[in-house]
Amino acid sequence: MNIIITGCSKGIGLELAKLFCKDTDNFVIGISRTKIEKSLIKELGNNSVFVPISYDLQNITKDLYDKIFMEIKTVDVLINNAGLLINKSFEELNDTDFDDMFNVNVKSVFKLIQMLLPHFSNNSHIVNISSMGGFQGSAKFKGLSLYSSSKAALNILTECMAEEFKEMNIKVNSLSLGAVDTEMLRLAFPGYKAQLNPIEMADYIKKFAENSHHYMNGKIIPVSISTP
Ligand SMILES: NC(=O)c1ccc[n+]([C@@H]2O[C@H](COP(=O)([O-])OP(=O)(O)OC[C@H]3O[C@@H](n4cnc5c(N)ncnc54)[C@H](OP(=O)(O)O)[C@@H]3O)[C@@H](O)[C@H]2O)c1
Repeated sequence: MNIIITGCSKGIGLELAKLFCKDTDNFVIGISRTKIEKSLIKELGNNSVFVPISYDLQNITKDLYDKIFMEIKTVDVLINNAGLLINKSFEELNDTDFDDMFNVNVKSVFKLIQMLLPHFSNNSHIVNISSMGGFQGSAKFKGLSLYSSSKAALNILTECMAEEFKEMNIKVNSLSLGAVDTEMLRLAFPGYKAQLNPIEMADYIKKFAENSHHYMNGKIIPVSISTP
């Protein structure tokens, strides 16, 4: 399978890349700003091919298209995992925070999918990684108004794209994650103890990405044992 994962320099995305590379015959492209260490690439590329692309998803232009399609012709699975969380009270949040979070969490997903659209294989799967904060009716937390709103926008974008891509047989689903013990969570909520680690969450997401599009499309799934 040809798999593209965004945000795989650390956290959940890195574990996802490792898991997909454990299988044989996958071609995995990982996109994040941080250049991934050569030693890590070796570790990742044991049974499959792993190609890292260093790229800032806040500014997607045609050169990303060239970098991707130099490597592959079609896309079977796209996991939009890259995310940005800025924890500030509503009064403190500014225009830059708004633009940065909406650019990474929503606009980059829109731009990347629009770019890849003619190249998705038949019955391919797009998985958007959202948050419980963006799930209607969930518990809300102070400091996360723009982050949660951006993830809510991602969820509705998921539903709309699923409808638009039906004839192309591209399935789009969204996973609204609860707390996972990563740098993002540790920086935003120092001292908070998450019940899941990134390996456990990546294992769930990988299986979901490989199988669930045979059973669902346009769905927003809460994946949480911590949030009501
Ligand atoms: N951890 C949680 O508790 C939790 C809960 C709910 C939802 N989520 C969601 O799960 C996803 C993964 O989160 P995580 O906890 O693994 O976070 P993380 O450890 O902070 O990793 C975030 C990843 O996104 C990449 N990224 C951020 N901005 C980028 C940009 N402008 N261009 C390219 N890549 C960018 C980062 O790479 P670079 O910095 O190298 O660019 C990094 O690889 C996110 O969408 C997050 O919102 C996490």
